[in-house]
Amino acid sequence: SLATIGVTGLAVMGSNLARNLARHGHTVAVHNRSNAKTQALIEQHGSEGTFVPSESTADFVASLERPRRIIVMVKAGGPTDAVIDELVPLLEEGDIVVDGGNAHFEDTRRREARLREHGLHFVGTGISGGEVGALEGPSIMPGGSKESYAALGPILESIAAQVDGEPCCAWMGPDGAGHFVKMVHNGIEYADMQFIAEAYDLLSAAGLTAAEAADVFREWNSGELDSFLIEITAEVLDQVDAATGGPLVDVIVDAAEQKGTGRWTVQTALELGVPVSTIAESVFARSGSGDTDVRGAARGVLTGPNRTVTVEDRQRFVDDVRDALWSSKVVAYAQGLEQIRKASDEYVWDVDIATVARIWRGGCIIRARLLAQISDEYAAGRLATLLVAPSIVSGLGDRQDAWRRVIALGATSGVPVPGFSSALAYYDTMRAERLPAALVQGLRDNFGAHTYGRIDRDGAFHTLWSGDRTEVTTP
Ligand code: 6PG
Repeated sequence: SLATIGVTGLAVMGSNLARNLARHGHTVAVHNRSNAKTQALIEQHGSEGTFVPSESTADFVASLERPRRIIVMVKAGGPTDAVIDELVPLLEEGDIVVDGGNAHFEDTRRREARLREHGLHFVGTGISGGEVGALEGPSIMPGGSKESYAALGPILESIAAQVDGEPCCAWMGPDGAGHFVKMVHNGIEYADMQFIAEAYDLLSAAGLTAAEAADVFREWNSGELDSFLIEITAEVLDQVDAATGGPLVDVIVDAAEQKGTGRWTVQTALELGVPVSTIAESVFARSGSGDTDVRGAARGVLTGPNRTVTVEDRQRFVDDVRDALWSSKVVAYAQGLEQIRKASDEYVWDVDIATVARIWRGGCIIRARLLAQISDEYAAGRLATLLVAPSIVSGLGDRQDAWRRVIALGATSGVPVPGFSSALAYYDTMRAERLPAALVQGLRDNFGAHTYGRIDRDGAFHTLWSGDRTEVTTP
């Protein structure tokens, strides 16, 4: 019989997704450029459900019921285009091609427009949760036409993570919306990890061993910080290195890498004019950690405190760091969600932010207890920013003394906390009555006649700086 859905590209993510589909009772067509991977999947996991393997793309396409639903799980960029080029002539009107990789949303927009000309649906879909998530229930963020979601959505919802009986999968909006949401998810993931790293750095500067810090993270994971990343932080910090007998984290090279989605988030935010400063700091923190030339030149040359945090009350300090982490995390979510909102306006996607937060509650890398609260707050009414949601206002109000103490302590003891600091700077910027941007405008007008606005009158104004210093109105 014909397959309900197909997966082409059977590396770990693709084959785990295919298995997840089969385990949920869907008949799954499977295909890979080299047949060995297809065979391996059938040999090792064929008993988990009904698979229809094909060696050629043509047979793969022919093995699918119509409208065909094909999930492409190959490398982003050229390889994805190559597979699409091969599929298009074999498909018929109304068929659906799903790109489940981490594609750039502009590529997705281009591909969607191209396939639409052929009467085909192209669904750029964010899939988060890593290898385990793909198999056991990821968070799925599909874009594309609403019509395609009617045919595809129920299948994707059946294999997604479920939270309180609700699938972590929903239609995000047209063309690039799904991949955009996934991109920002990754940007927030970078920020979350940077905050965790800063918290750990502070704890160890205060004398906690890796194992003691692991206990702290485990404790935090049973409270408001409950999240996947906090959970695995305890796991990583607890790991003992077989070679040295010491903590594994102490022998890992301290240069963080990146595959690019965090950088895309920041690049896109610059274009949209959305200050995602916490995400940018996190991307830069990774780049800086890998800058061996500068670090090598500065180490031992630049003077400063010796990174020892002296604390009188250790428990209070640990609680302060927890509060700084929670507060900074809220700011990163506020910035990322704001970026999605701005993009949604720009590209006319009409993304529902409450839904985004809802499908991030489970399955994805940034899944966290906080996301239920965020989703509820956005569902309750339109928010100019997450920061003004009632429960967030009080949450940040209660924690900000601790947040400020932690950053001050980092500064005086020489422990860099770029994530925590930029989050607090954003908070203080956004709540300020007046900003020194007024002076920036004055300077711009002084050296370049760039004009400024006035608080008491409409229009653009210029002071004749090199003349008699009177003010003129410019048309
Ligand atoms: C996910 C992850 C995943 C991403 C990794 C690596 O949602 O499952 O975001 O898509 O590939 O997190 O990202 P970096 O290599 O850039 O850290």
